[in-house]
Amino acid sequence: MENKIIYEFHRLLRNTDKLALKPIPKDILETILKAGTYAPYGQNPPQPWKFIALTGNRALDISKKLDRISNTLILCFCPKVKDYINQLTNYGSTFAAIHNFRIQALSYGIVSYVITEVDESFRDYIHREFNINKNDYELIAVVLLGYPAIKIEPKIPTNRDVIWRVE
Ligand SMILES: Cc1cc2nc3c(=O)[nH]c(=O)nc-3n(C[C@H](O)[C@H](O)[C@H](O)COP(=O)(O)O)c2cc1C
Repeated sequence: MENKIIYEFHRLLRNTDKLALKPIPKDILETILKAGTYAPYGQNPPQPWKFIALTGNRALDISKKLDRISNTLILCFCPKVKDYINQLTNYGSTFAAIHNFRIQALSYGIVSYVITEVDESFRDYIHREFNINKNDYELIAVVLLGYPAIKIEPKIPTNRDVIWRVE
C-alpha cells in the first residue's frame, strides 16, 4: 500500500514561485522556523545551522535580486568544515531542516520555493549584509515562502523504478 503521509506531502510540495504578497503572521513564521530545528543533525558541530527569516521590503528586495517576488524568505547557512564527511552531514542536516520548514509551512497553506543556485555576487552580498563570515558558513539555500497566488495542482507521481530498487 502507498505510504499515505509521504504521498500527501509529496503531492503538494511543489516548488512554487507564484506567491501572493499577503504577509505571513510572525507567530506562524516562528513556528515554521522552529520546525526546522527539529530536523536530525550530525554530531559535529553540535549546532549546525544558521537561519535568518526576513519579511516585508527586506525580503522583497532580496527576492528581486533572485528574479522572484516574495515578501517572506529564509536565508539558510550551513557551517563549513574541513572534513568531507562532516561537511556532507552538515549539508544533509541543513536540507532536512529546510524540508521541515516546507512541510510545516504547508500545514498553514503556505507554499515555498527553494533556490540553491545563486551566483557568487549574491552570496557575497548576503554574507556582507548579514555579517556572516564566508569561511565559517556557506549560504546554501534561500527558501521563499508565501500563500499561493495560483492553485497548486497536485504533483502526478512519476515512475521511479529507474532510480530505486530492492534486491
Ligand atoms: C533542494 C532544492 C534546491 C532547488 N534549487 C533550485 C534552484 O536553485 N533554482 C530553481 O529554479 N529551482 C530549484 N529547485 C526546484 C526544483 O528544480 C523543482 O523542485 C523541480 O523542478 C521539481 O518541481 P516541483 O517542485 O514542482 O515538483 C530546488 C528544489 C530543491 C528541493
